[in-house]
Amino acid sequence: MNTRFILSVLPLFIFGGLLTLSDASKVVELSDRFIDIINEESSWLIMFYAPWCAHCKRLEPIWAHVAQNLARVSSIRVGKLDCTVHSNTCRKFGVRMYPTIMFIKGTDIHFTFQGDRNTEDIINFALRVSGPPVLKITKPKSIDELRNKKQVFFLYVGPSDSTHPLYAGYHEVAAKFQPLSFFYSLTNHEFIQNHVAMTTLPTVFVYKEEMFFEFDKSLIGHHPDDIQSNLTQWVNTERFETFMKVTSSNIEDFLSTNKYLVLAIVEENKLKQVPSHMIHFRSMIHNIIKVHRDKYHKHFQFGWIGSPDLANRIAMQYLSLPHLLVLNSTTNHHHIPQDEPVQLTHEAVTMFLDSIFNQSAPVYGGNTVGTKLYRMYFDTTSSLSDMWRGNPVLMTVLLIVPSMFLLLILYSICCGNILDADEEEEDDCGYSTDTDYHEKKE
Ligand SMILES: *[C@@H]1O[C@H](CO)[C@@H](O)[C@H](O)[C@H]1NC(C)=O
Ligand SMILES: *[C@@H]1O[C@H](CO)[C@@H](O)[C@H](O)[C@H]1NC(C)=O
Ligand SMILES: *[C@@H]1O[C@H](CO)[C@@H](O)[C@H](O)[C@H]1NC(C)=O
Repeated sequence: MNTRFILSVLPLFIFGGLLTLSDASKVVELSDRFIDIINEESSWLIMFYAPWCAHCKRLEPIWAHVAQNLARVSSIRVGKLDCTVHSNTCRKFGVRMYPTIMFIKGTDIHFTFQGDRNTEDIINFALRVSGPPVLKITKPKSIDELRNKKQVFFLYVGPSDSTHPLYAGYHEVAAKFQPLSFFYSLTNHEFIQNHVAMTTLPTVFVYKEEMFFEFDKSLIGHHPDDIQSNLTQWVNTERFETFMKVTSSNIEDFLSTNKYLVLAIVEENKLKQVPSHMIHFRSMIHNIIKVHRDKYHKHFQFGWIGSPDLANRIAMQYLSLPHLLVLNSTTNHHHIPQDEPVQLTHEAVTMFLDSIFNQSAPVYGGNTVGTKLYRMYFDTTSSLSDMWRGNPVLMTVLLIVPSMFLLLILYSICCGNILDADEEEEDDCGYSTDTDYHEKKE
C-alpha cells in the first residue's frame, strides 16, 4: 500500500518538483503550482491553512488520520496548502477562512466540507463527493455491508432510469445533498421481501437506527415538479441520525429542518468522555425518541450537546448539568423544564414535550430586538469571563493595554492643547508630529 502510494505521487515529484511529503504522514504539502497539476484523473482532498491559526493546528493530527485511512480505501490524495505563502491558489478556490477543507477533482469539481471536523465525517464527505451522486448497488449482499457501517443512508428501490419521475427527482436531490449524505439505488425487488413490508415500487427509504423508513409518496403533490421539492424537504429532515450530536458547526443544519430541537446538554471533556450520571440522562432522552418515534418524529428532532457553552449561549444563562433544552427552529424561542433536570423522568419529559407542542409551556428567548441585544450582552460577558478563567494574565494585559492607550490618547489630546497654547513646551511631549509625519511619507 505504502509503495503504491509513493509510486503514484513520485511522478509529481519528478515533473513538478513542487511537492514535499510531510514527515510522519501521507499528507502532501502543496504549493501554488498545484493549479498546474490538477486534472480530471486525480482527486484531491485539501486543507487550506495558515500557520498561525489554532483551529488548523488542532486539525493536524485528524488530517494525518484522514490521509492514512483514505489511502487505504480510495485513490483520493490528501494534501495541505499554506495560504500565507501560496495565496494565488487559495484565492482561486475562494478560500475565505482557515482551515477550509475542499475536495477538488479537475478544474470544475470542487466541494467544500461543512461540518464537524472529525476524522469520520471528513472521510465520509470525501468518499461521497468523489463518486456519482447516486451509487448503484448490484449485489443484494451489499445492503448488509452498508447496514454494518451504522450511518444514515438513502435508498431508492425500482427501475433506475431518468424516465421514471421518482428516480429523476431522487437523482436531482442526491446531487444537491451529495456532500451531506449517501444515496444508493437498487433494482432488486427481493430487497422488499427481505427487509421491509410490502410496498409499491418505485420507492425511497432512509436507513437509520437499524431500520428502513419509507418516504410517504402520498405527500407528493400533483405537479411533476412537486416530487423534487417534496423529496428535498423529506431528505433535509431525514438525513440526521435519530439522536445526533449537535455542535456549533452543524446546529444551523438542524435549524433548517423547521422542527423543535430537543437537546440533552452534557459536558464532554477533552477526551470526548461524558461523566456517567450525564450519560444516564442522555440515554433517557434518547430512549424517548426510540420508544415514541411515531408520536414525536414529525415535529421533534432529538440530539445532544457536549459543549455547555453552546447551550448557555442559546439559553442565555448558565445551565446546570445535565440539562434539557428545546429550541423552536422557526422562531428561535426556547423552552426549559421547570423541574430540576436531574430529577426528570421519562414521563415528565414526555409531558414537557406535549406542553411545548400544545404551546402551553413557558417560552423564552426569540428574535425580538430586546432578546438580540441581551444575547449580545450575554455572549460578550460570558466570553470575557471564560477568557478570565482560562488566562487571567492575558486578560489583564488585554484590559490594561487598551486603557494605557486611552490614557496616551487623552494625554496627547491634552498635550495638543498645551502645544497650541505654548510652543515652547513642545519638547516635553516628546512627540514632534510634523517632522515624524514627513519623514515617514518619504
Ligand atoms: C409538495 O410540494 C408542493 C410544491 O412545492 C407543495 O405545494 C406541497 O405542499 C408539498 N407537499 C407536502 C406534503 O409537503
Ligand atoms: C414555534 O413557534 C411558533 C409560534 O409560537 C409555532 O407556530 C410553531 O409551530 C413552533 N414550532 C416550530 C417547530 O416551529
Ligand atoms: C398541553 O399538554 C399538557 C401536557 O400533556 C397538558 O397537561 C395540558 O392540559 C395541555 N394544554 C392544553 C391547552 O391542551
